[in-house]
Amino acid sequence: MAYDIALVPGDGIGPEVVSATMPLFESVADDHGFEINSTKYDWGTEYYLEHGEMMPSDGLAQLKPHDSILLGAVGHPSVPDHITLNGLLLPIRKGFNQQVCRRPSVLFEGIDSPLRGYGGGDIDFVVFRENTEGEYADVGGREHVGFDHEVAVQAAVFTKEGTEAIVRAAFEAASEREGLVTSITKSNAQAYSMVFWDDVVEEVAADYPDVELERLLVDAASMDLIRRPHEFDVLVASNLFGDIITDIGAIITGSMGLAPSANINVTDAYPSMFEPVHGSAPDIVGEGVANPLATVLSGSMLFDHLGESTASTALWSAVADQLADESAPRTPDLGGDAGTADVVADLQNRLS
Ligand code: NAI
Ligand code: MG
Repeated sequence: MAYDIALVPGDGIGPEVVSATMPLFESVADDHGFEINSTKYDWGTEYYLEHGEMMPSDGLAQLKPHDSILLGAVGHPSVPDHITLNGLLLPIRKGFNQQVCRRPSVLFEGIDSPLRGYGGGDIDFVVFRENTEGEYADVGGREHVGFDHEVAVQAAVFTKEGTEAIVRAAFEAASEREGLVTSITKSNAQAYSMVFWDDVVEEVAADYPDVELERLLVDAASMDLIRRPHEFDVLVASNLFGDIITDIGAIITGSMGLAPSANINVTDAYPSMFEPVHGSAPDIVGEGVANPLATVLSGSMLFDHLGESTASTALWSAVADQLADESAPRTPDLGGDAGTADVVADLQNRLS
């Protein structure tokens, strides 16, 4: 069996973590009897500075035939973030209808949480973030630009289909985990979109009588993710709220450098995409110290999506073993002084 994987390393530390981890993915695939054929697409800010666009106009058509996409990060200090994000990452998520963004938050053994009293295994939840619409819909405009009466409108878009897809994915996951879904909204202040969301949640919940449903407003949820993160199982939220609470999830479990994510097309009509949650980290680019583990865990999620679950588990367990081992190399974000390559080489040893 061979899979075609598109690599979009992107900007900043994106290319560093993708090129460091690909040989590891290829060797794990080999150990488990399948092959990875990868094609690299050098799109991103450098491409933009040369061509005036983040990817070619037929970029999505080039990506479409692949089985999956592995992305590094997008964003560079020389170009405004709304241009880079809307030119590469968001068009892939939206164009390929990757409605379900799945982001696990796991406090691994051996990792210190900034929260007092939390140790390995105490935090283990997964956020399902709506990924193609909501507050990040490209709908709005500015009028009377530069005048005192300038006005800006940014509309949020919630469709029945998109909302139901993310909510159903969350309930499905909860029914295979601890059986608790926490739906996060702002229904008190946003009486149209968020009350609509609540209605959809209610409808879907009826199909899952064994899953408990909890509702939180996003401000209270932000507090509770700090106060009682151990009580959460599956959280489901709109695009903006999911974006924010997954950064909380990443930092209470140790580092942005450890948080993986999957952007799933639930129908398999288009490829799904896997990427670390972190950005291009311009403050450490070129130093060889970017933590590759978020990308390794994203690769584990990619293998799982391809149906290669033993290879997926092998990667995930190797990361867990490494983190639990006090003598193993760690990058500076985890308090160590090792480089990206040292961490990958150690994983390679654990896997062979
Ligand atoms: P960031 O995630 O790039 O960095 C935040 C902090 O975490 C920095 O101190 C950075 O050094 C550290 N960090 C991140 N990843 C790390 C890793 N693997 N190992 C060690 N340390 C790591 O977020 P920031 O600084 O807000 O954004 C930088 C650029 O990235 C911006 O252009 C932003 O738009 C873009 N961005 C892109 C994302 C994506 O491609 N999915 C997500 C978030 C930001
Ligand atoms: Mg974010």
